[in-house]
Amino acid sequence: MKAVIDHVGIAVRDLSEALGFYRDALGLEIEDSEEVASQRVRAHFVAAGPATLELLEATSSDSPIAKFLDKRGPGLHHITLRVDDIRAALADLQARGVRLIDHEPRPGAEGAQVAFIHPSSTHGVLVELKQAAGEHRPRRR
Ligand code: CO
Repeated sequence: MKAVIDHVGIAVRDLSEALGFYRDALGLEIEDSEEVASQRVRAHFVAAGPATLELLEATSSDSPIAKFLDKRGPGLHHITLRVDDIRAALADLQARGVRLIDHEPRPGAEGAQVAFIHPSSTHGVLVELKQAAGEHRPRRR
């Protein structure tokens, strides 16, 4: 499997304060913002070279990001690796005994399909797999 770093997700409590650092102090630019209904978050994508920083705000108190902020405060939430075929990647990882949070891909931001891998199998980091919209190439047999 070929996996490429796509973005790093950072949970923020106060977006305007976070922008004071990421945009104003570091000089990075917000490319896009999008509400991801399935996760009850608003994601702000900050361009940082070939990868992106994803600033995540909760839109509801039962959002996974709200729970994360309550438990641990703002900080690194997940890293995202892009793969060509997310279903094949999940099947391969499962066959290797990797503990998955999502056994099936679900809708992510920007029309992508995403699935999370449990931190107990990734040495403590929440890892998101992503297949970007329109990038599905069925495996040849
Ligand atoms: Co993400």
